[in-house]
Amino acid sequence: MPLLADTHVHLLAGLDDGPPTEDVALAMCRMLVSEGVGAATALAHQNPNYPDNTPARMLAAAAALSATLAAKKIPLAVFPTAEVMLSPNLVADWDAGRLLSVGNHRQWLLVEMPHGEFVDVLPLAEELRPRGLRLIIAHAERYLPLLYDHTMVSQWIAAGCLIQVTARTIAEPWDDEMAKGIEAWARGGLIHLLGSDGHGIDRRQPLLAAGYRRLAKLVGRSAAARIGSTWGTAILRGETVDVPPPHPPERKWFSRWF
Ligand SMILES: [Fe+2]
Repeated sequence: MPLLADTHVHLLAGLDDGPPTEDVALAMCRMLVSEGVGAATALAHQNPNYPDNTPARMLAAAAALSATLAAKKIPLAVFPTAEVMLSPNLVADWDAGRLLSVGNHRQWLLVEMPHGEFVDVLPLAEELRPRGLRLIIAHAERYLPLLYDHTMVSQWIAAGCLIQVTARTIAEPWDDEMAKGIEAWARGGLIHLLGSDGHGIDRRQPLLAAGYRRLAKLVGRSAAARIGSTWGTAILRGETVDVPPPHPPERKWFSRWF
């Protein structure tokens, strides 16, 4: 298994609903290492519930975590990141320097939907593109209007978005419909990144390996390695990533008759 990249894990102690203390954050980091992860986001929410999470505050917390990991010889590279809730003010907030991009590289913004809502991100993706900023859709499988609409997700990808899926949902989909949806996404080339969405040690643990292994069964080892390791690691480090377009939809059996 290649060294995995967790592109969505809450590791900044006390800054959001993730680890409450540095000890819990370090236990999560050790768990990530045991899961085969070499690079991870040091992430916290940016949304109205956490108004104090400025880029400066999160950068300082991530730098402190990174220094502690080095001092304790825990082999995990962490990259400051925000999970930004979509809002009508997002572009203005970005222009004003109020949002933290993935790894602070100003290339990718990790975004989630407002609670209980679904928003078409296409206009936003197009508005941000000239600024050199693209969107990563956090735990995209949660949004059922997107999961079952390959045309919509393909349009988002064509507009520069990347699709992140929670590893645990791949390993243990919560029902048959989710399992089928995830499988169709995987086989359609519609998954680009894995995240654990880890929040703690007693609950919502930072688990990636089982999802990665299940993904490898669905798409083969080399495609899984790109999704679970290569692309995520490159994004966290600020390197360029080029993903192929989604596969054309499979023809239904009956279409061969016409
Ligand atoms: Fe999250």
